[in-house]
Amino acid sequence: MSAASKIIVALDVPSGEKALELAKQVDPAWVKVGLELFCSEGPALVEKLAQNYSVMLDLKLHDIPATVASAVKQVDRLGAKMLTIHCSGGEEMMQAAASSTSSMDILGVTVLTSMDEADLSAVGDGGYPQTLVKKRAKLALQHLAGVVCSPLEAALVRQLSSETLIVTPGVRPNATATDDQKRVATPASAIANGASYLVIGRAIRNASDPSKAFRRIVEQLGG
Ligand code: C5P
Repeated sequence: MSAASKIIVALDVPSGEKALELAKQVDPAWVKVGLELFCSEGPALVEKLAQNYSVMLDLKLHDIPATVASAVKQVDRLGAKMLTIHCSGGEEMMQAAASSTSSMDILGVTVLTSMDEADLSAVGDGGYPQTLVKKRAKLALQHLAGVVCSPLEAALVRQLSSETLIVTPGVRPNATATDDQKRVATPASAIANGASYLVIGRAIRNASDPSKAFRRIVEQLGG
């Protein structure tokens, strides 16, 4: 797989017009539609993007199993190839999601990359992010196509399975501007740690030339 086809460009913009413009400018194989864009444009934009790109639909669903199953069925027809749910919704929810799609790989978000040990402890999930990621990944791998985790935890998930999909946000090409992300690494170390795909948003979107920023990351990964 080429380096360019491992990068999922997060279209975290408020309108369909801006999303299509960014996608056209960067011209990646993969794009990600997250909450902002889905709340603004809805399913129609996902269908449109899916005509030209592989789409990761990052809705991070988290509800009772029956509700998640119904939501997955609703988005199954849109042409997206990946859909995210939260592992913290439990094993039954993961099973319900996986059995409600015939077209998408369901990925379980282990622990948000914006959370560190103190954040987890404040919401009652005491312990190290790594411990929680491992616990949730073990459960997820029994039911789902893969997981979303920080590049810092990709290696420990890869040890659990050589085949599972590992998608890592929290990627920063120069590891300086981390924004709200707390568990970050460079694209090269994310891949070295076993990531299958990298989600990159602000490092591309906020660059003065997003297309150049994308190409530079591809070069860093060896082309
Ligand atoms: O701009 P940045 O590269 O930090 O964007 C990361 C993207 O990945 C955002 O769209 C965010 O919603 C998403 N994401 C994340 N952490 C997760 C799962 C998804 O940052 N655990």
